[in-house]
Amino acid sequence: MSMNSLIEQAARRLDQLRQAGAELPTDSTTPVAQVAASAPEGGAAKALTVSRHVDLDLPMLGRAGIAIPHAPRSRVADQFRVIKRPLIGNATGKGAMAIANGNLVMITSALPGEGKTFTAINLAMSLANELDCTVMLVDADVTRPSVMSTLGLPPGPGLLDLVQDPSLDMASTLLRTNVDKLTLLPSGTPHPRATELLASEAMARLVGEMAKRYADRIIVFDSPPLLLATESRVLATHMGQIVMVVHAEKTLQADVMEALSTIESCPVKLMLLNQARESTVAGSGYGYGYAGEGGYAHAYG
Ligand SMILES: Nc1ncnc2c1ncn2[C@@H]1O[C@H](COP(=O)(O)OP(=O)(O)OP(=O)(O)O)[C@@H](O)[C@H]1O
Ligand SMILES: [Mg+2]
Repeated sequence: MSMNSLIEQAARRLDQLRQAGAELPTDSTTPVAQVAASAPEGGAAKALTVSRHVDLDLPMLGRAGIAIPHAPRSRVADQFRVIKRPLIGNATGKGAMAIANGNLVMITSALPGEGKTFTAINLAMSLANELDCTVMLVDADVTRPSVMSTLGLPPGPGLLDLVQDPSLDMASTLLRTNVDKLTLLPSGTPHPRATELLASEAMARLVGEMAKRYADRIIVFDSPPLLLATESRVLATHMGQIVMVVHAEKTLQADVMEALSTIESCPVKLMLLNQARESTVAGSGYGYGYAGEGGYAHAYG
């Protein structure tokens, strides 16, 4: 078979796989070339990996306060509609300036329990609800992962496995979901040296590859708190954008400032006040908003 017809055959097979919902990289030249180069007669599809599909229990997530698609308007959903705008602008290069790796967005905070995971999941859902926005939610809180359990899913292979084994295809660990355009990358198989793995060169390479291979996606990383561990600081050096969640009226301004000083290298830093008391909404204990008062600014850099 000629190289041309092999490539045509591979391209057709890719289309079929895409239609069947396979998780394929966006760089359309690479897989065709890969398939064509590696395919023995009739075996074109074997080089590609189809990601697994999982079903999120959306009503359960809705009850837990997560803004799910097609739900009636909610305050959390409305707040995330506002929050995601600047992130999308920076990720797609339509913001005021071009941001390197703008599609990599880390959610972090100074201290534990400020609402990072809650924010990461809500933001990922909200972004996936955009017409032309595809999202990957990565659990990078590898020592205390909670994205999968919060979503009601069992743990599985993911980030740590990919860092340890570069031959592993990322698509094999990605999970497609019943929320169109939302895929998940779990933290992976627990490892005694998870912290070191996250701070490793291999991790830096992996993150760089993710940004390029899935350039049309916004990749949201849930991460550990900045002041208790060093891995978020290392992770921050690869990110185009960072959302720092601040537990309103609880976290000390000095801690917020110290945390911000550890992520100076990131071009875009947004601050998000979580659980802000809103005097205008009676009986509401939680809320989101970009910080603009009390000495905080919402964007740096
Ligand atoms: N805006 C909010 N509305 C309702 N519940 C919230 C909100 N923010 C956080 N929570 C709840 O508060 C708890 C702590 O939040 P979460 O787990 O997201 O914090 P975290 O910063 O990820 O913590 P850790 O540092 O332990 O990873 C969770 O039960 C979460 O559901
Ligand atoms: Mg968390």
